Amino acid sequence: MGEAKRKRDAVQNNEAAKWARAAEPETGALLAGLITVMRPTLIAECGTYPGRMTHPLAKAAADVGATLDTVERVPWMYEEMRTEFKGHANVNVLAEPITDFAGYELTFLDSGPTYAERMQDLACWEMTAAPGAVAVLDDVKDGWIFPMLVQQNLFIDTGHGLLVVQRR
Ligand SMILES: C[S@@+](CC[C@H](N)C(=O)[O-])C[C@H]1O[C@@H](n2cnc3c(N)ncnc32)[C@H](O)[C@@H]1O
Repeated sequence: MGEAKRKRDAVQNNEAAKWARAAEPETGALLAGLITVMRPTLIAECGTYPGRMTHPLAKAAADVGATLDTVERVPWMYEEMRTEFKGHANVNVLAEPITDFAGYELTFLDSGPTYAERMQDLACWEMTAAPGAVAVLDDVKDGWIFPMLVQQNLFIDTGHGLLVVQRR
């Protein structure tokens, strides 16, 4: 059995497997819609694997001439995603977290599986995103996000729970 397959099976049988779950299709539709109306030039996705949101993001981005940077920190997941999106000229699969979000008009925060990892992405976005930039946060229902943030922003009950935040 190959190393990648062994690791994948281990994840699937592991508590951490819940973090490999994809966001709902409705989330892809919302993100694509935001791209259509915002017409950003640069989009970020934090947490690529298994890439279900990367596809609608990449397509909508291509339609408006935008570039998508998508971050996958788990090495074997990164390799898989790099292969999957090799043919997409406007998609960069990155192995290192984005710490400066200044150029990204739209960001999808969907990394895992630790609270620290998700909070690091959110803190970097909060500190560096330009005024007017929008972040969409998945898994809000799992208690990742401070209740105050949920109360003050647009919450959408997708199942996992989405939060749409605009940098002031
Ligand atoms: C929350 S989802 C991202 C879903 C993706 N945006 C989509 O909708 O298809 C999975 C994330 O959890 C992380 N993850 C899953 N299993 C993991 C594991 N065993 N160890 C570390 N990270 C893991 C991966 O880094 C991955 O980016």
